[in-house]
Amino acid sequence: MDHVRVSPLLRARYSPLRFDQGHELADEQLEALLEAARWAPSAGNSQPWAFHPRRRGEEGHATLVEHLAGSSRLWAPDASALVVNLARREVDESGMPYSEFADYDLGQAVAHMTLQAQAMDLACRQFRAFDLDGLEEALGVRPGWHILTMTAVGVAAAAAPDGRERRSIVDLRTAGRSDA
Ligand SMILES: Cc1cc2nc3c(=O)[nH]c(=O)nc-3n(C[C@H](O)[C@H](O)[C@H](O)COP(=O)(O)O)c2cc1C
Repeated sequence: MDHVRVSPLLRARYSPLRFDQGHELADEQLEALLEAARWAPSAGNSQPWAFHPRRRGEEGHATLVEHLAGSSRLWAPDASALVVNLARREVDESGMPYSEFADYDLGQAVAHMTLQAQAMDLACRQFRAFDLDGLEEALGVRPGWHILTMTAVGVAAAAAPDGRERRSIVDLRTAGRSDA
Protein backbone atom coordinates (compact mmCIF):
# COMPACT_ATOMS: atom_id res chain seq x y z
CA MET A 1 0.00 0.00 0.00
CA ASP A 2 3.05 2.24 0.31
CA HIS A 3 3.05 3.78 -3.13
CA VAL A 4 -0.59 4.84 -3.22
CA ARG A 5 -2.38 7.34 -1.08
CA VAL A 6 -4.79 5.21 0.81
CA SER A 7 -6.37 6.70 3.93
CA PRO A 8 -4.19 6.28 7.05
CA LEU A 9 -7.14 4.55 8.69
CA LEU A 10 -7.17 1.85 6.04
CA ARG A 11 -3.42 1.54 6.04
CA ALA A 12 -3.26 1.00 9.78
CA ARG A 13 -6.12 -1.48 10.03
CA TYR A 14 -5.49 -5.13 10.65
CA SER A 15 -7.31 -7.89 12.52
CA PRO A 16 -5.41 -8.64 15.72
CA LEU A 17 -5.20 -12.13 17.16
CA ARG A 18 -4.43 -10.78 20.62
CA PHE A 19 -6.33 -8.17 22.62
CA ASP A 20 -5.49 -6.23 25.77
CA GLN A 21 -7.51 -8.05 28.42
CA GLY A 22 -7.35 -5.02 30.73
CA HIS A 23 -9.01 -2.55 28.36
CA GLU A 24 -12.64 -1.65 28.94
CA LEU A 25 -14.87 -0.25 26.26
CA ALA A 26 -16.60 2.96 27.40
CA ASP A 27 -20.31 3.53 26.78
CA GLU A 28 -19.53 6.34 24.33
CA GLN A 29 -17.12 4.13 22.39
CA LEU A 30 -19.72 1.40 22.02
CA GLU A 31 -22.29 3.97 20.99
CA ALA A 32 -19.91 5.41 18.38
CA LEU A 33 -19.36 1.93 16.90
CA LEU A 34 -23.10 1.37 16.56
CA GLU A 35 -23.62 4.87 15.21
CA ALA A 36 -21.01 4.23 12.51
CA ALA A 37 -22.81 1.03 11.49
CA ARG A 38 -26.11 2.87 11.52
CA TRP A 39 -24.96 5.25 8.81
CA ALA A 40 -23.76 2.62 6.37
CA PRO A 41 -25.42 2.58 2.93
CA SER A 42 -27.84 -0.22 2.15
CA ALA A 43 -30.03 -1.31 -0.74
CA GLY A 44 -33.17 0.86 -0.74
CA ASN A 45 -32.06 2.08 2.70
CA SER A 46 -33.37 -1.24 4.02
CA GLN A 47 -30.79 -1.32 6.84
CA PRO A 48 -31.12 -5.10 7.18
CA TRP A 49 -28.74 -5.45 10.11
CA ALA A 50 -28.74 -5.93 13.84
CA PHE A 51 -25.95 -6.06 16.39
CA HIS A 52 -25.82 -7.79 19.73
CA PRO A 53 -22.85 -6.36 21.63
CA ARG A 54 -21.66 -7.64 24.98
CA ARG A 55 -18.68 -6.18 26.78
CA ARG A 56 -16.26 -8.39 28.69
CA GLY A 57 -17.68 -9.00 32.16
CA GLU A 58 -21.15 -7.80 31.19
CA GLU A 59 -24.21 -10.03 31.53
CA GLY A 60 -24.55 -12.16 28.40
CA HIS A 61 -20.85 -12.04 27.49
CA ALA A 62 -20.32 -15.51 28.94
CA THR A 63 -23.02 -16.89 26.61
CA LEU A 64 -21.11 -15.62 23.61
CA VAL A 65 -17.84 -17.05 24.95
CA GLU A 66 -19.51 -20.43 25.56
CA HIS A 67 -20.32 -20.69 21.87
CA LEU A 68 -16.85 -19.82 20.58
CA ALA A 69 -14.97 -22.47 18.62
CA GLY A 70 -11.68 -23.75 20.01
CA SER A 71 -9.69 -21.44 17.71
CA SER A 72 -11.46 -18.20 18.59
CA ARG A 73 -11.62 -19.12 22.29
CA LEU A 74 -7.85 -18.57 22.38
CA TRP A 75 -8.14 -14.82 21.79
CA ALA A 76 -11.73 -13.51 21.48
CA PRO A 77 -12.63 -13.59 25.21
CA ASP A 78 -9.84 -11.04 25.89
CA ALA A 79 -11.38 -8.46 23.56
CA SER A 80 -13.20 -5.59 25.25
CA ALA A 81 -16.42 -6.57 23.51
CA LEU A 82 -17.90 -9.21 21.28
CA VAL A 83 -20.54 -8.11 18.81
CA VAL A 84 -22.85 -10.60 17.10
CA ASN A 85 -23.66 -9.46 13.56
CA LEU A 86 -27.09 -10.36 12.17
CA ALA A 87 -28.74 -9.83 8.78
CA ARG A 88 -32.42 -9.82 7.97
CA ARG A 89 -32.88 -11.96 4.88
CA GLU A 90 -36.57 -12.82 5.11
CA VAL A 91 -39.73 -11.10 6.31
CA ASP A 92 -40.51 -12.74 9.64
CA GLU A 93 -41.93 -16.25 9.16
CA SER A 94 -43.31 -15.64 5.66
CA GLY A 95 -40.24 -16.96 3.89
CA MET A 96 -40.47 -13.94 1.59
CA PRO A 97 -37.16 -12.21 0.95
CA TYR A 98 -36.66 -9.02 2.96
CA SER A 99 -33.63 -7.93 1.01
CA GLU A 100 -31.59 -9.61 -1.68
CA PHE A 101 -28.65 -7.60 -0.37
CA ALA A 102 -28.98 -8.32 3.34
CA ASP A 103 -25.60 -10.05 3.70
CA TYR A 104 -23.88 -7.49 1.50
CA ASP A 105 -25.31 -4.61 3.50
CA LEU A 106 -24.46 -6.17 6.86
CA GLY A 107 -20.86 -6.58 5.71
CA GLN A 108 -20.75 -2.94 4.78
CA ALA A 109 -22.15 -1.87 8.15
CA VAL A 110 -19.55 -4.02 9.91
CA ALA A 111 -16.85 -2.40 7.77
CA HIS A 112 -18.07 1.00 8.93
CA MET A 113 -17.89 -0.19 12.52
CA THR A 114 -14.40 -1.56 11.95
CA LEU A 115 -13.09 1.73 10.58
CA GLN A 116 -14.80 3.71 13.34
CA ALA A 117 -12.98 1.46 15.81
CA GLN A 118 -9.72 2.17 14.01
CA ALA A 119 -10.41 5.92 14.24
CA MET A 120 -10.76 5.50 18.03
CA ASP A 121 -7.46 3.59 18.30
CA LEU A 122 -9.30 0.33 18.70
CA ALA A 123 -9.14 -2.74 16.50
CA CYS A 124 -11.58 -5.39 15.32
CA ARG A 125 -11.31 -8.98 14.24
CA GLN A 126 -14.40 -10.26 12.49
CA PHE A 127 -14.82 -14.01 12.73
CA ARG A 128 -17.03 -16.98 12.02
CA ALA A 129 -15.40 -19.53 14.31
CA PHE A 130 -18.32 -20.19 16.67
CA ASP A 131 -21.33 -22.48 17.00
CA LEU A 132 -23.75 -20.51 14.86
CA ASP A 133 -26.82 -22.71 15.32
CA GLY A 134 -26.28 -22.98 19.07
CA LEU A 135 -25.85 -19.23 19.39
CA GLU A 136 -28.96 -18.49 17.33
CA GLU A 137 -30.91 -20.69 19.71
CA ALA A 138 -29.33 -19.26 22.85
CA LEU A 139 -30.05 -15.68 21.75
CA GLY A 140 -33.55 -16.44 20.49
CA VAL A 141 -32.88 -15.01 17.05
CA ARG A 142 -36.12 -13.94 15.37
CA PRO A 143 -37.46 -15.59 12.20
CA GLY A 144 -36.01 -13.94 9.12
CA TRP A 145 -32.85 -12.91 10.96
CA HIS A 146 -29.55 -14.77 10.68
CA ILE A 147 -26.28 -14.53 12.53
CA LEU A 148 -23.39 -14.26 10.08
CA THR A 149 -20.33 -13.33 12.08
CA MET A 150 -19.06 -11.86 15.32
CA THR A 151 -16.67 -8.97 15.74
CA ALA A 152 -14.15 -8.83 18.56
CA VAL A 153 -13.37 -5.21 19.44
CA GLY A 154 -10.64 -3.91 21.69
CA VAL A 155 -7.09 -2.69 21.95
CA ALA A 156 -4.68 -4.77 19.89
CA ALA A 157 -2.03 -6.47 22.02
CA ALA A 158 0.12 -7.61 19.11
CA ALA A 159 1.40 -5.81 16.04
CA ALA A 160 0.18 -6.70 12.57
CA PRO A 161 1.84 -9.91 11.41
CA ASP A 162 4.61 -9.66 8.83
CA GLY A 163 3.97 -10.76 5.30
CA ARG A 164 0.29 -9.88 4.98
CA GLU A 165 -0.63 -10.45 1.37
CA ARG A 166 -3.24 -9.16 -1.02
CA ARG A 167 -4.11 -9.91 -4.61
CA SER A 168 -2.82 -7.34 -7.09
CA ILE A 169 -4.84 -4.47 -8.52
CA VAL A 170 -4.38 -6.02 -11.96
CA ASP A 171 -5.98 -9.21 -10.68
CA LEU A 172 -8.87 -7.26 -9.17
CA ARG A 173 -9.48 -5.64 -12.55
CA THR A 174 -9.39 -8.81 -14.59
CA ALA A 175 -10.51 -11.72 -12.44
CA GLY A 176 -14.10 -12.76 -12.86
CA ARG A 177 -14.23 -12.11 -16.60
CA SER A 178 -13.58 -14.72 -19.22
CA ASP A 179 -12.45 -12.14 -21.80
CA ALA A 180 -9.73 -10.59 -19.63
C1 LIG B 1 -16.40 -12.85 7.17
C2 LIG B 1 -15.10 -13.05 7.90
C3 LIG B 1 -14.90 -14.21 8.62
C4 LIG B 1 -13.71 -14.38 9.33
N1 LIG B 1 -13.56 -15.50 10.13
C5 LIG B 1 -12.46 -15.62 10.89
C6 LIG B 1 -12.35 -16.70 11.81
O1 LIG B 1 -13.24 -17.53 11.94
N2 LIG B 1 -11.23 -16.77 12.57
C7 LIG B 1 -10.23 -15.84 12.48
O2 LIG B 1 -9.24 -15.95 13.21
N3 LIG B 1 -10.32 -14.80 11.62
C8 LIG B 1 -11.39 -14.65 10.83
N4 LIG B 1 -11.51 -13.58 9.98
C9 LIG B 1 -10.41 -12.60 9.88
C10 LIG B 1 -9.64 -12.79 8.57
O3 LIG B 1 -8.86 -13.96 8.65
C11 LIG B 1 -8.75 -11.54 8.28
O4 LIG B 1 -9.58 -10.43 8.10
C12 LIG B 1 -7.90 -11.79 7.03
O5 LIG B 1 -6.94 -12.79 7.26
C13 LIG B 1 -7.18 -10.54 6.57
O6 LIG B 1 -6.39 -10.03 7.61
P1 LIG B 1 -6.50 -8.51 8.05
O7 LIG B 1 -7.94 -8.26 8.46
O8 LIG B 1 -5.56 -8.35 9.20
O9 LIG B 1 -6.12 -7.66 6.89
C14 LIG B 1 -12.68 -13.40 9.27
C15 LIG B 1 -12.90 -12.22 8.52
C16 LIG B 1 -14.09 -12.04 7.86
C17 LIG B 1 -14.32 -10.75 7.10
